[in-house]
Amino acid sequence: MKVVDTIPRMSTLVKIFKKEGKSISLIPTMGYLHEGHLSLVRAARKHTDVVVMSIFVNPMQFGPKEDFEKYPRDLKRDEHLAASAGVDVIFHPSVSDMYPAGYSTYVEVCGLGDTLCGASRPGHFKGVTTVVAKLFQIVRPNIAYFGQKDAQQAIIIKKMTEDLNMGIEIKIMPIVREPDGLAMSSRNAYLSPAERKNAPALYESLKKAETLVRSGEKDAAKIIKATEDMIRVIPNAKIDYVSMVDPRNLKKIKTVTGETLIALAVFIGKTRLIDNIIVKGAK
Ligand code: PAF
Repeated sequence: MKVVDTIPRMSTLVKIFKKEGKSISLIPTMGYLHEGHLSLVRAARKHTDVVVMSIFVNPMQFGPKEDFEKYPRDLKRDEHLAASAGVDVIFHPSVSDMYPAGYSTYVEVCGLGDTLCGASRPGHFKGVTTVVAKLFQIVRPNIAYFGQKDAQQAIIIKKMTEDLNMGIEIKIMPIVREPDGLAMSSRNAYLSPAERKNAPALYESLKKAETLVRSGEKDAAKIIKATEDMIRVIPNAKIDYVSMVDPRNLKKIKTVTGETLIALAVFIGKTRLIDNIIVKGAK
């Protein structure tokens, strides 16, 4: 496995791969890898000749009061995990390489980035789409892999790729969970032992919502209330949002008739966790 830490070196390598007729997949990450990331690697391994993983904690997608500085980083550990899962190249550029002085170009998908997570994290998705567009330009992948845990991000990146005719296939892979149901996330490392013990209740609340839908409940307000009631009893939990939306356009739904994304963001102590589930209501 190669570790490449400058854009010119990555571009040279990509030129060589393309000349050799090799297909490339890209797995954009911010590192501190877990099984969720590694499941993307294993999927990518089956579909392309070369698997590139970017590891870049992107300052542009963090708000001024967010956790950019303290976001967990451990490149040596990541290198070991990535190599054993089958990554061929880690691309690990510096912030000054990605955003040199005077950097002034942004990519924004209008209309999808200001609800759900975007409502409480203004500018977040503009930062995500800008960095992902740059990574796509540098690595020129045939396929890029993202996780369903960041459901809104996945929808926005798909839209950007379509709107800008990027010609990259976007594959969204299922959420990987801990045995107790907690969605895997690098931010789980922030949880204290007590918070970690309580965190699986988020997924339980989503399962409860799913059970309600399965039993015929169609009223989104009632389902959201039942979900929130389960979250409110978690010690030190603060709900950012629980929302039911159309997974194609993130528009809020009132009545569950087709595929519905139930998404939540909840602070447990100081840690903001997100999770979601797709349910299918009867027509
Ligand atoms: O999902 C993430 O880890 C990040 O938002 C991404 C896609 C790597 C962009 O920085």
